[in-house]
Amino acid sequence: MSNLFYRTFNKKRVLVTGHTGFKGTWLISWLKTLEANVTGISVDIPTSPSHFEKTNLSKEINDLRMDINNSNLKKKIDKIKPDFIFHLAAQSLVTKSHEDPLKTWSTNVLGTANLLNSLIDYKKPCVAIFITSDKCYDNKEWEWGYRETDELGGSDPYSGSKASAEILINSFVKSFFPNNHTVRVASVRAGNVIGGGDWSSNRIIPDVIRAWSTNKAVKIRNPNATRPWQHVLEPLSGYLTLAAHMSKTKRIQGESFNFGPNDNQIKTVSNVVHSIYKYLPKKSLKMKKGSNKNNEHHFLKLNCDKALNTLNWTSTLTFDETIEMTMEWYLAYYKNPKKIFNKTISQIKNYEDLAKSRKLSWSR
Ligand SMILES: NC(=O)c1ccc[n+]([C@@H]2O[C@H](COP(=O)([O-])OP(=O)(O)OC[C@H]3O[C@@H](n4cnc5c(N)ncnc54)[C@H](O)[C@@H]3O)[C@@H](O)[C@H]2O)c1
Repeated sequence: MSNLFYRTFNKKRVLVTGHTGFKGTWLISWLKTLEANVTGISVDIPTSPSHFEKTNLSKEINDLRMDINNSNLKKKIDKIKPDFIFHLAAQSLVTKSHEDPLKTWSTNVLGTANLLNSLIDYKKPCVAIFITSDKCYDNKEWEWGYRETDELGGSDPYSGSKASAEILINSFVKSFFPNNHTVRVASVRAGNVIGGGDWSSNRIIPDVIRAWSTNKAVKIRNPNATRPWQHVLEPLSGYLTLAAHMSKTKRIQGESFNFGPNDNQIKTVSNVVHSIYKYLPKKSLKMKKGSNKNNEHHFLKLNCDKALNTLNWTSTLTFDETIEMTMEWYLAYYKNPKKIFNKTISQIKNYEDLAKSRKLSWSR
């Protein structure tokens, strides 16, 4: 196998924070197929069941439990000596951010500051990608995609913390990471990621899967809300493309990039629920209107022209393929959870093959 990712990450030391979470587990699984030397830092294993636990990857990586705000983070990083860092550790849920706003701000903002602060004197060349969110934009309820230069905002603690992380990253770069610094920094904004292995609460796919597996009605808070749905491998391919690009050229420092789906993937919550239910055997769909007490927005869309023009990146999958891959994973899990890691790896390989057949730039 030789594609851009293999050439870039093979045998490289890669630190992933938040590696036990939904996106983190897919990322470390992919990095293992590239034979990277992976270290993960996470405070806990956030869900049960857990994709991370089922992979048994803890035996094959340097698996660390540590708070991102720990004052020993710098010492730890100096010991790990990463060539690449993907910072995903976060309190990632809007509903939880209403229950515990201080923890959300502390993890998402101060945790990001602690990581950046730990890298100021780091001497080895390293690319550090900071994962924020599509929710960092001031949502104007318009139908156009947000561009990287649009106003930041956020009317709930999660979104506000992600917008603040963006401001913080920008100020750290301007103050401490000049263009000739060995550490190259970028932030990435993607949203509404779906795929197998997510059991977080108050996210639509896990909510439907939980309701289906226990024969209960699924509560839909905001059925007509549109979101930029994408399979988890899509933004990950964007993060890996950006990191590969930044490891070769010093042209990018302190910039942000949107990674979102094509326009035809902007569907409503209700569209997604009906599409996934087609794959679920036997039981019929029972839906209940939940309350939208957190005032979630109705429209959210990203403009990804910058990723296309700078990195030649676009997403790979159609909406139907995204749903099919997601449901194939969950059905395989409920059939035989012990073998689920094989499914994860085969989906990564299939995704790479599909990207190659569609001539995606990173797949060569
Ligand atoms: N899943 C999505 O749809 C989505 C959309 C936009 C942005 N994001 C962002 O992508 C990143 C990953 O999201 P996810 O869905 O995998 O999240 P997740 O909730 O599944 O996982 C969060 C991870 O962060 C770790 N973590 C939490 N608090 C920590 C702390 N104080 N110290 C160290 N580790 C800590 C957890 O242990 C876990 O490994 C997050 O930054 C999230 O905000 C996710």
